Amino acid sequence: MFDPSGPVHVVRAPGRVNLIGEHIDYCGLPVFPMALQRGIRMTFQPRPDPEARFINRDPRFAPVTFTVAESIRPAPAGDWGNYVRAAAQAVAQRFPNLRGVNALVETDLPIAAGLSSSSALVVATALAILHANSVTLPALELIELLSRGERYVGTAGGAMDQAIIIGAEAGCAIRIDFHPLRLTPTVVPAGWQFLVAWSLVHAEKSGADRQAYNERTKQCEEAHRLVAARLGRQEDPSYPGLLAAASVEELLDVARATLSGVLLRRFRHVVTEATRVRLAEMAMARGKEGDLTAFGQLLDASHASLRDDYEVSHAELDRLVELAREAGAAGARLTGAGFGGSIVALVRAERAAEVMAALRERFYAPRGVAGDVGQHLFVAESAAGAGVLDSEAV
Ligand code: GLA
Repeated sequence: MFDPSGPVHVVRAPGRVNLIGEHIDYCGLPVFPMALQRGIRMTFQPRPDPEARFINRDPRFAPVTFTVAESIRPAPAGDWGNYVRAAAQAVAQRFPNLRGVNALVETDLPIAAGLSSSSALVVATALAILHANSVTLPALELIELLSRGERYVGTAGGAMDQAIIIGAEAGCAIRIDFHPLRLTPTVVPAGWQFLVAWSLVHAEKSGADRQAYNERTKQCEEAHRLVAARLGRQEDPSYPGLLAAASVEELLDVARATLSGVLLRRFRHVVTEATRVRLAEMAMARGKEGDLTAFGQLLDASHASLRDDYEVSHAELDRLVELAREAGAAGARLTGAGFGGSIVALVRAERAAEVMAALRERFYAPRGVAGDVGQHLFVAESAAGAGVLDSEAV
């Protein structure tokens, strides 16, 4: 697909693991992820015309061809090519008359595992098309453009994934604030390791779980509207505004008097998770070594909240979390949207091998995949954000 007489470029976009702050980015509340050493690698060559052609190294994903334009017709929901189209349409709405690319997509990320392979694909595509047209956008603008652009696939997501994939710094976790978007790094202490373990259950962001995700964004809005009204703060448009005006305890009192059932549980998750993000960032930054025990307890509390109040866990995620803790992790929780996908566990570096061996024996071996375990279970190494690498020979 590549013309040997022209230059070939490579863009790399990392996956991400969210350490804490789950299902609150779309409420405008800060989250605390880091980028992974695994990601999407896209080899591309500019074309002279607006056509775009994407081939995936993985034969499960059929080639995608379309014209880069302000309005691109989507393929049916769940088609991987819709992430590529989402990015192309977003950049075409910002810059007219773009030329397209020929591109080859490869990844070492587990797909649909809650590690944002889809947003990494969106970011890689956008950077490839921008580079092919010799245009650039400041990082914050690109994040806003692509987080809106990715709604093309039908998910009413927040901006966490695009923000960390574009704005990550190696060796750091990043607090992401929204409205306005701000990125604040904290160095991950040397003695800490975050393990990522896939539950073997696919979390299809663009498939069946999409409805459950979108439903939760609406429930959060509704709960916020009712609590703000009760507090006489109808003019207050946001969760950050509520949290600035009252303590979490006060908000929960008002919520108990105003909401019931599902809406009360959703609201409780959102405001307590926001507090956990703040405390987790402080625990990581404490002293030279950080407060690993405190961070671990916050991970555990986050998982309980996501399981019981937000109802996005899965029996296999609960099992992995339990096994990681039994094996000596300081704490563990589901990461990403849930409904399947992966967990993240915090361990002292010297205990990582032991915890990984326990997960291999007690989770992966009984499910028949112990031989292949490096695919599903690995140490997260905080990586830098996406970018175009130097030109390469074909
Ligand atoms: C998905 C979305 C993110 C975020 C997480 C849950 O990954 O893309 O914006 O909402 O779910 O925290």
